[in-house]
Amino acid sequence: MALLGRVLPRYLLLLAQNNLGFRLAEIKSLLSLYGGRFSAHQESHINSPFWILNMPSEEMAKGLMKRTVCGKSMFELWGHGKSSEELYASLKNYPMDNMVPYLQSNTTYKINVHAFNKTLAQKEKIQKIDALEFLPFEGKVNLKKPEHVFWILEDYGTDPDNIPKEPLALYFGRWIANGQRDLIDSYSVKKRHYIGNTSMDACLSFIMANHGRVKPNDVVFDPFVGTGSLLIASAHFGAYVCGTDIDYNTVHGLGKASRKNQKWRGPDENIRANLRQYGLEKYYIDALVSDASQAIWRKRMLFDAVITDPPYGIRESTRRTGLQKEVVRSIEGGTENRISVSSNYHLSDLFFDLLNFAAQYLVMGGRLVYWLPVYKPEYTEEIIPQHSCLKLISNCEQTLSSHTSRHLITMEKVKEFEDQDQYSHLLDCQYMPYKGQNSFREKYFSGVTKRIAKEERDKQK
Ligand SMILES: C[S@@+](CC[C@H](N)C(=O)[O-])C[C@H]1O[C@@H](n2cnc3c(N)ncnc32)[C@H](O)[C@@H]1O
Repeated sequence: MALLGRVLPRYLLLLAQNNLGFRLAEIKSLLSLYGGRFSAHQESHINSPFWILNMPSEEMAKGLMKRTVCGKSMFELWGHGKSSEELYASLKNYPMDNMVPYLQSNTTYKINVHAFNKTLAQKEKIQKIDALEFLPFEGKVNLKKPEHVFWILEDYGTDPDNIPKEPLALYFGRWIANGQRDLIDSYSVKKRHYIGNTSMDACLSFIMANHGRVKPNDVVFDPFVGTGSLLIASAHFGAYVCGTDIDYNTVHGLGKASRKNQKWRGPDENIRANLRQYGLEKYYIDALVSDASQAIWRKRMLFDAVITDPPYGIRESTRRTGLQKEVVRSIEGGTENRISVSSNYHLSDLFFDLLNFAAQYLVMGGRLVYWLPVYKPEYTEEIIPQHSCLKLISNCEQTLSSHTSRHLITMEKVKEFEDQDQYSHLLDCQYMPYKGQNSFREKYFSGVTKRIAKEERDKQK
């Protein structure tokens, strides 16, 4: 990636080897948040734990690491190759001017060795460090508190049953920053004050906020808020958050508890208390008891991001309020009254409403991030709901079972909403798999039933 003819500095990103399908979209989103772009050359090694990124500045690299939960560490790349010889040749070509500030006699430093998919003996590590004596290090070695830390990184592939003798790729670089992997533990749902059966895992919540490019002072909305896991992740990145849920008990933290050994929710188990637990209460706007299928907002652009996990009808029901005519006897002369009842909310309607809502209430450039359940045998890209005001940014699959998965869909508002856009996304093919009462639920459980039947048959053999 070149900027006005200038070759951009190269950085090495070491990534965690889980949630593979979400990494590219996360890094791309974060780069674009900081004004950068992902260079296409990297895409061929997409499942590798090592990615080389071209970025205009170290500041951008540091900004990215303040946000990523997929990235572990970032290094300024000084050299790389497919063999030691290639690495050394590449290091000898690295501009001396770039190295000098970190090698001077008044600095302290340390060199570490990391091998991916192989354990190296200490002796081997020292040999690898000694082999770099041609680099003009003039500072003092300080193993405890060095000013600069350098790393030799070796890639032995991703197959633990087939570890090559020699590394497939070698890198050398100056450590710049670590990513936000610690958040996965510190925000773990296991230690959360208020949880429900469908509370979103902490790592995925942060990934969703990153796909949504949430930034400080944004306003983020979750129309299916549940216990507020997605609000927490956005608030951590400095956004003001709010949500709605159709379930009164969920919004008010009442009713049965989801934790084992606890029958009823305690007095302070609610969304606000969850934000307070992490020191984020000042970012909490509120949560309302409201049906996402109903328009309750004034017509204007309100939200920087809509980030949500809608109900699929597997662990929680898909429902909405309905209107039922009921004749109420009145002493004054028999008037007709309409009361609100619960009726099934087909997924096809739910996605139609969600896209329409995002198209109307997102600011331009704002993002919608949501999960789409998929019955794998029927999946084609055409089934992904579309809207004339929203551009598809990413579509990341997470497998749930042999026949089902969920896709994290990210869309960006690219066009102002006009009345004719309301029905612009009513293409039959998109909504077909989600039409009909409990359509996804039936497919989901049909697979489970078949599997149980097969297990039974296998047992009898
Ligand atoms: C998958 S859960 C969301 C879980 C949430 N992300 C969390 O971490 O706790 C879906 C939520 O949508 C709510 N819901 C179902 N139908 C709704 C509707 N029509 N409008 C608003 N909320 C609804 C359910 O009560 C449930 O809390």
